[in-house]
Amino acid sequence: MIDDLWYKNAVFYCLSVGSYMDADGDGVGDFKGLLRRLDYLHGLGVTAIWLMPFQPSPGKDDGYDISDYYGVDPRYGTLGDFVEFTHGCKQRGIRVIIDLVVNHTSDQHSWFKAAKSSPDSRYRDWYVWSDKKPANANKGMVFPGVQRSTWTHDKDAKAWFFHRFYDFQPDLNTSNPYVQAEILKIMGFWIQLGVSGFRMDAVPFVIATKGPKVNKPTEQYDMLRAFREFLQWRKGDAIILAEANVLPDTDMEYFGDDGDRMQMMFNFHVNQNLFYALASADSRPLAGALKVTKPRPATAQWGLFLRNHDELDLGRLSEEQRKTVFEKFGPDKSMQLYDRGIRRRLAPMLGGDRRRLELAYSLMYTLPGTPVLRYGDEIGMGDDLDLPERNCARTPMQWSTEPHAGFTKNANPKNPVIDKGPYGYDHVNVAKQRRDPNSMLNWTERIIRMRKEVPEVGWGDFKVIATRDPAVFVMRYDWRNNSVLFVHNLDEKPREVSFAVGLPGKQGEHLINLLTEEHSHADDKGRHRLMLEAYAYRWYRVGGLDYLLKRSDIDGDTDAHPE
Ligand code: GLC
Repeated sequence: MIDDLWYKNAVFYCLSVGSYMDADGDGVGDFKGLLRRLDYLHGLGVTAIWLMPFQPSPGKDDGYDISDYYGVDPRYGTLGDFVEFTHGCKQRGIRVIIDLVVNHTSDQHSWFKAAKSSPDSRYRDWYVWSDKKPANANKGMVFPGVQRSTWTHDKDAKAWFFHRFYDFQPDLNTSNPYVQAEILKIMGFWIQLGVSGFRMDAVPFVIATKGPKVNKPTEQYDMLRAFREFLQWRKGDAIILAEANVLPDTDMEYFGDDGDRMQMMFNFHVNQNLFYALASADSRPLAGALKVTKPRPATAQWGLFLRNHDELDLGRLSEEQRKTVFEKFGPDKSMQLYDRGIRRRLAPMLGGDRRRLELAYSLMYTLPGTPVLRYGDEIGMGDDLDLPERNCARTPMQWSTEPHAGFTKNANPKNPVIDKGPYGYDHVNVAKQRRDPNSMLNWTERIIRMRKEVPEVGWGDFKVIATRDPAVFVMRYDWRNNSVLFVHNLDEKPREVSFAVGLPGKQGEHLINLLTEEHSHADDKGRHRLMLEAYAYRWYRVGGLDYLLKRSDIDGDTDAHPE
């Protein structure tokens, strides 16, 4: 297979324009500010930026309530600024993907206003109505504890409307062909302005049947193929990255058996089990999660992440496992959210401990898929638990020790900067970490550089290598006549571990460390014995550093691993 599927060996960085840098001084980040920071992102080595919603919006759900799909919120700039930004990215070889939030609109969208004004409006059927309060109105809330129902009465419409999320986010009737045509038009618009694809919000809900009588929604998976086909006619290398927190046995419905639906999906299943592994030092459920999410078409790819802008959703773990993660990483009620998750940033969850942070990120960069980093994580930013719900982990980027972390010159930024405690911008900021060769920032830059030089992770086939110790997690990847091997000690105690690489003959004899001088050579029986410090991680090339000379041009080379 040719290897120009760019997303297979990419590093994604997600950010929200309003929280990155404010160039015009109104207290809200903007595209001009972001454009000025592109060299920072280029230096960090990320290859794609995922932008959270930036379209006009009342901003009641941080932009996930859009009131016009074809514009830029004036606080962030203009369409002109947006194009300057995508152009700036292109010059630096960085791709841009943007959020596609089409399960619902804002209740301030002109379509909804027209729809509720009259049953005869041509937009009426763009939403989902009921004359009476549906029997299931108190079921299926996405934000339990905050959201009270999924149907709300509207006075003007004299009817109830459906909203899977908050009541100011009326669901679009996505089964309506006119709505579907509009979704394609939205994609076409942004593609034309230079984006390389979309992170599609809430996909299972977008494709679900909706209505007052729908008790068990059915997913209309074929819609995904229609989105994909349109996108690739317009721009061959554009992708959709699906947000779909679904059970592994439906993954293939999203990717399509022939890889004809979504190119990428976030691996929520691995995410939850990864946190369990970090909390319990037991890698077995993680290995299980990797196994059940392994089958996927050759062109498909997982997005691998630790934390995102939402809560860490632990809803798919067992009761017992969830309890373990809560106790370890979010013991206080104020740290938990929606009865299922933790709303903190990663650094405070891991006690700000560099060893644990490096271990967690090393796992993220070496598990099968494409890593998705969140802004601020490269410097170990913290959270502000005084802010409501998920806002605690959405504070502005901390650039320097200047007032408001150098984020804005405005005295009252809309989102407060973290200015107190160990994660305050006095301690945690980019400027300081740039000067310190051992900082988290410089570690991240190094690890990203190395990750990009190990395409085996994104492209290859993996095996979990058995050790007798569940705290030590060993994986090997094979791709085009080369292999790499990663070792992680999840435990707070040092470990001694022994394993065989599992390749025929003498191929596994030498493990060349990519990050330090500690190489490993097998004993007579072909086994490697490693002494691992607490939370240790090792990245090895199997064989030697002549791997580029050995690399084959095709997959499944029968001459793989010549002696
Ligand atoms: C997704 C987003 C979340 C948003 C919701 C509604 O889950 O990640 O932030 O609130 O969709 O659009």
